[in-house]
Amino acid sequence: MVDDKLRTPEAVRDAERWTAHNYHPLPVVISSAEGAWLTDVDGRRYLDCLAGYSALNFGHRHPQLIAAAHTQLDRLTLTSRAFIHDQFADFCRELAELCGKDLVLPMNTGAEAVETGIKVARKWGYQVKCVPAGQANIVVAEGNFHGRTTTIVSFSTDEDARADFGPYTPGFTVVPYGDLDALTAAIDENTVAVLLEPIQGEQGVVVPPEGYLPGVRQVCTDRNVLFIADEIQSGLGRTGATFACDHEGVVPDMYLLGKALGGGIVPVSAVAANADVLGVLKPGQHGSTFGGNPLACAVAIEVVRLLATGEFQRRSAELGERLRSGLEGLVGKGLIGVRVRGLWAGLDIDPALMSGREACERLAARGVLAKDTHGSTIRLAPPLVITEEEIDLAVTQLAEVLAG
Ligand SMILES: Cc1ncc(COP(=O)(O)O)c(C=O)c1O
Repeated sequence: MVDDKLRTPEAVRDAERWTAHNYHPLPVVISSAEGAWLTDVDGRRYLDCLAGYSALNFGHRHPQLIAAAHTQLDRLTLTSRAFIHDQFADFCRELAELCGKDLVLPMNTGAEAVETGIKVARKWGYQVKCVPAGQANIVVAEGNFHGRTTTIVSFSTDEDARADFGPYTPGFTVVPYGDLDALTAAIDENTVAVLLEPIQGEQGVVVPPEGYLPGVRQVCTDRNVLFIADEIQSGLGRTGATFACDHEGVVPDMYLLGKALGGGIVPVSAVAANADVLGVLKPGQHGSTFGGNPLACAVAIEVVRLLATGEFQRRSAELGERLRSGLEGLVGKGLIGVRVRGLWAGLDIDPALMSGREACERLAARGVLAKDTHGSTIRLAPPLVITEEEIDLAVTQLAEVLAG
């Protein structure tokens, strides 16, 4: 029976009435949030176990980030890149230092960072590697998720993401993820880059076999090919290190960053690379009106400073072990597989039991918000400010859902 005092049903109906149905959200209407907790329009509280697909690594409304945004809102919000503003150099320098790279190119969304990486790699290929005009190719992996632009969906292997959006951008070779021999075989003299997620998030937190990323690094070095690591979801503390590549001591030629870089407040993305790579771009060849705007930079500077303390990476590593042991205890009790890196987990629910969607609906009814990815796989990515007790709460609620 629908309680007509509740505002949620009407708010859900309104949202469905007035928007394109390019998402299938859970029927929860959030109105406020703090730390790891969300409150809906009916006053129900939920533990956030998605964190905006890792855009909220520091939790909702982190005081240091909110303060930076407020201060900047009162001073200067936008200049365009026609002029330089006083937050710009600090942001680029501090992020470059965090990445151990010479230069940063700021954009807004993750997909724009990926597009930027592709453009830079192609230009580098023609100007530095001397690939014949129009012949550059980039090797990518099956099961990838790098965003939604027409070029990016051109090399997606997810039919939902790709079908009916052609004609597709050429110049990409798809190989199985985690298979170094296949990747090596796909590289030819016109390959300018290998573009990979060091852990495939949308695919269900798929961790490649140990040695794969160092192997990719080596083959890229040997064959004069750029290694582009899309750390948009895996980076900035999520896996218990600053970058997922760090777990295997791998340094890519280009980091693609986004999501958490904006502190859950503004869209901020960036490419970080050395001058011999990013230096190929000259004025007029790439840009964005909002990329590197003062508000974005002011917030992102504080994000980088939070990360520079190492505290969030430590929390993610330590609490991730608690999450791992809780989830591994559910294998055989409704889960058939679990992959955990830091505070990031992909859970395969026994499909005979329920779909991922159904599991997330049942979790929501118990006050825990998570999201399915494919079929019966769900992903947990709580804010890194989550506590041990809250992790236990999430695991307990999941156990109850699986127990029926
Ligand atoms: C690895 C990866 N790359 C790129 C993107 C695209 O980011 P955005 O949605 O900000 O365009 C995403 C988004 O989920 C992602 O997970």
